[in-house]
Formats: sequence, C-alpha cells, structure tokens
Amino acid sequence: MGSRLRLAPALTALLLAAPARALSGVDCAAPGADCGLRDVAVQAGVLVGSAAQPGFLTGDPLYAPALAADFNSLTAENEMKWQALQPSQGHFNFAPADALVDFARQNAMAVRGHTLLWADPIRIPDYVNATTDPASLRGLLQDHITTVASHFAGEVDAWDVVNEPFEVTSGAFRSNVFLDTLGPSYVAEAFRLAHAADPGAKLFLNEVLVEFGGAKADALRVLVQDLLAQGVPLHGVGFQTHLLDPFTQIDGAAFEATLRSFADLGLSLEITEMDVALLNSDPDRLQRQRDTYETMVAACLRVAECERITFWGFTDAHTWIDGTFGPGRAPLLLDAAYARKPAWFGVRDALVAGVPEPAVGLLLAAALLAARRRAPRP
Ligand code: XIL
Repeated sequence: MGSRLRLAPALTALLLAAPARALSGVDCAAPGADCGLRDVAVQAGVLVGSAAQPGFLTGDPLYAPALAADFNSLTAENEMKWQALQPSQGHFNFAPADALVDFARQNAMAVRGHTLLWADPIRIPDYVNATTDPASLRGLLQDHITTVASHFAGEVDAWDVVNEPFEVTSGAFRSNVFLDTLGPSYVAEAFRLAHAADPGAKLFLNEVLVEFGGAKADALRVLVQDLLAQGVPLHGVGFQTHLLDPFTQIDGAAFEATLRSFADLGLSLEITEMDVALLNSDPDRLQRQRDTYETMVAACLRVAECERITFWGFTDAHTWIDGTFGPGRAPLLLDAAYARKPAWFGVRDALVAGVPEPAVGLLLAAALLAARRRAPRP
C-alpha cells in the first residue's frame, strides 16, 4: 500500500476532538496488536461506521460498548428519515435522533445524516404523498430539509440528501410524489436546500445496487454529471452495498473501477450501508462472507476518494435483514452473542493492509490539516 493521504474532514475533526483515543500509540498494523476497527481505520485514514438504533443503546447492555469500541462514525438507521422526524406536518420529533447524536459525541464518533429525502411512497408520510400541488409540495420539501439540516448542522458531517432516486434494478427514475409532481429536478432542488441550510456538510446521493457497475451505475454517472454541470452542490456518491445473494460474490476490481469512475468526476465516495447476507445452505458461508467484506473494504482503500465505510449494523443480534429477507442470514461482523466473526477479521485485515508506513506520519499530517474542517463548500 502506498503512502496515500486521505483526509476526510470528519476524520481530522475526530483526531482533534479525541487525540488520546485516535493516537493510542499502538501500531495496529503490528502483528498481534489488539485494536478495535476504529483504531485501525484511523491509521488507514478512513472512517468506519455503523447504523445504530437508540432503543438498543438503552435496551441491550452489550450494544453500546461494542458500538463505541469498533466504530468512529454512526448513521441513524431510521431516526433521521422524514417519517421519523416529521410524522405529521409541522410536528418535528428530534429526540430519538438527538439521542444518537449525543452518543456519538460522547464517544468521539462522526455522524452521517440519513436521509433528507427517500421519496418512496412507503417511506414518506401520507400528508406528503397526498400533496400533488407543485407549490405546496415545494413548500413541504423546503420546510423539511431546511428544518432538519439546520437542526443537525455542526453535528452531521455528511448527508444522504437523496436516497435511491432510481428503480432498484435499473437507472430509471423511481416514481414518487416528487418525481410525478415536480419532475427529476426535485433532486437538484433537494441538494440546493440542504446546502443553504448547512453549507459545511458534504452532500451525497445514495444508491443501491451500483457497486457492480453496469447500466444502473452508468445512469447514475449521467445524473451526477448533469447535476454538477448545473452547479448543484453535490459532493459525493454513497454505495449502499447491501450484498444479498446472488450479489455476494462481487468482484473487487469491478467495484474499484466503479468507484474510480465516480472519483474522476471530482466526488467523494463512501460505502454507506454494507452487509453481506449469505445462504444457509452454503457450508463455507462464514469464510465466503469474510472474503466479501475484505474484498470490498480493500477496494475502497485503494481509491483515495473513498473516505468512509459504514456497515448496516454490526451484530447479528440486530439486523434489518432478518425482518426483510428472513431470519438466519447473519449478515454482520459480530455474531448474535457479540463475538467477532471471520467477517470482522476480514475487515480488520483489509484495514491493516491499508495502513501506510509510518502510521504516525499520516496522523500528524491529518492533525495539521484539521483547521480546514467545515469550510463552506462550493
Ligand atoms: C432500513 C432499516 O434498516 C429498517 O429498520 C427499516 O425498517 C427500513 O429501512 N436502504 C436504506 C436504508 O437506504 O434506509 C434501509 O434501512 C435499508 C435499505
């Protein structure tokens, strides 16, 4: 691994906020070093995060310590979605999301905002779906994004402004009240509103099933180029990376090429929601899962613009895969008893391989550049 320098603003901020934790003095790349994933990740120059739910912080005694031990970034799994924050018009409920932000602050973690606009009819409250007058719908969009992005300004370093604008398996815009009422320009509008409310946040378009390249990734690139050409404040693309069969046997080189094709447009990149659900009939499933995690993290580390890797949870005790795709697919890094699985070691090994020599040089350089944090973005 070459001596690359990757300086996510959130990472440099963490180095300043919690230098003792970040600069533990242990070389996590040394054989036998016992480091949490976050300690290795800092030395590799990336953030490593997990989705989290506030109920588990209080309801499961093993959850909070394990979350804080391995991760230096946190995404609200559901609590920052429109439905959660503004379930009825004009009535905002910030308490559950704020509890997650408090936890992150206490544990020197960055916070990803997810998501200002996931416009699927089932993800959006009925009063929004029912608003088909363009001016009224624009008013709702403006109120929601301005209120939410202002509320979390200074806490959230990156927002998934628009989540899943396309159909799941194609690059066609997905029908929803915003597309149907305002046309595709709703995407640009959402980014402009978010930027006006929080000029310091990095603004992402987040999509599913673009890791492999192909037609959907091509369509996303066209959309991104079009937005950038219009001067829309778009700073990054998020790759959800929910790897379910048959997509678990992903080619790392193909993912790297896809990442580079977006980096070439001048964007930051993140893995935003990774999990790897395997078939129970596969006798080698844990090893295969480990390989998939290692491959994907290594591909991200080979691309300088890939700044953060977030998993969609961390323990098989609590995963959306159980409820959505059926139980027993154990898609995460720790098992249901919070023991490290082969997958955890796959991520750790990929991060260790990404630590440049000497690690301390990277850390000092990062700290020196931290003053650039949160300068307004173009
Ligand atoms: C999921 C949550 O994990 C579930 O708890 C919830 O019931 C539905 O949403 N893509 C996304 C995430 O962008 O917001 C989704 O999260 C998973 C798929």
